[in-house]
Amino acid sequence: MQVRLASRAGFCFGVKRAIKLAEETVRERDGPVYCLGPLIHNPQVMQKLAAEGVQEIDRVEKAAPGGKLIIRSHGVGPGVLDTARDRNLKVVDATCPFVGRAQSLARELASGGTPVVIVGDKRHPEVQGIVDWTGGQAVVVDGPEEARRLPVVEKMAVLAQTTQPLANFQAVVDVLQEKAGQLQVYNTICHATGARQQAALELAREVDVMVVVGGAASANTRKLAALCRQSGKPAYQVETARELDPVWFKGVKVAGLTAGASTPDWIIEEVERRMKELGEMTQLEDNMKENVIA
Ligand code: F3S
Repeated sequence: MQVRLASRAGFCFGVKRAIKLAEETVRERDGPVYCLGPLIHNPQVMQKLAAEGVQEIDRVEKAAPGGKLIIRSHGVGPGVLDTARDRNLKVVDATCPFVGRAQSLARELASGGTPVVIVGDKRHPEVQGIVDWTGGQAVVVDGPEEARRLPVVEKMAVLAQTTQPLANFQAVVDVLQEKAGQLQVYNTICHATGARQQAALELAREVDVMVVVGGAASANTRKLAALCRQSGKPAYQVETARELDPVWFKGVKVAGLTAGASTPDWIIEEVERRMKELGEMTQLEDNMKENVIA
């Protein structure tokens, strides 16, 4: 069985940068190091960072004064940064620059009096952070249906959660054109996500089965698996090589492999190796059966 890896898979620029900053911070630490929420949605990487000394906390108030606080790639609102400063914490800002751009745009627009609409998931920390930069003024819509419920206004600006599918953003923009006399459109979608999704879809069309590696809680990994299934091919999501089931590769000639933005190379390589082993095993079993029948 041949195993083909998608041309774009695994860590994106923002996640790589966040992990590098976290590793540098623990290496040079002179006190406790905290991360507000999981740095990335990958339990294996989080365990490794915890072993190196990064403590995950869910509220800034839990950090001991004088410690270092790593802000993950999703970013946070100004309220969190103020609390950190008040508690005498040293902030290590690993906010992805693409998220940072969306935050600055939202802040500038809101402070200039322009109502802001964000296309995204209101429960996602990245979106909550961007909303906070507008002083809570921005409205979040998940798609064109919600956008239709917005009132008609003179002017409005729209931007997107960085991981939004372009088609959904465009559909909302089309609706808002009718809602605002003057609509300012800022496409803040990150290219890393789109490129990875495109590469996964192209590969899924060319193979018999797809394996998608990534944390079970990782939204972008789940999205990749859903996209692969849309190609009509079976697609299985796993966190590690141990979850691979030999049954998936029965009679398979070519299997595809891709990974979410929070999956490190070493896990992808482990899965790739195991897929090849399982492919050889199922091939051997088939050969033996044929020989017995003959
Ligand atoms: Fe940044 Fe895009 Fe990754 S926004 S964190 S490079 S998916």
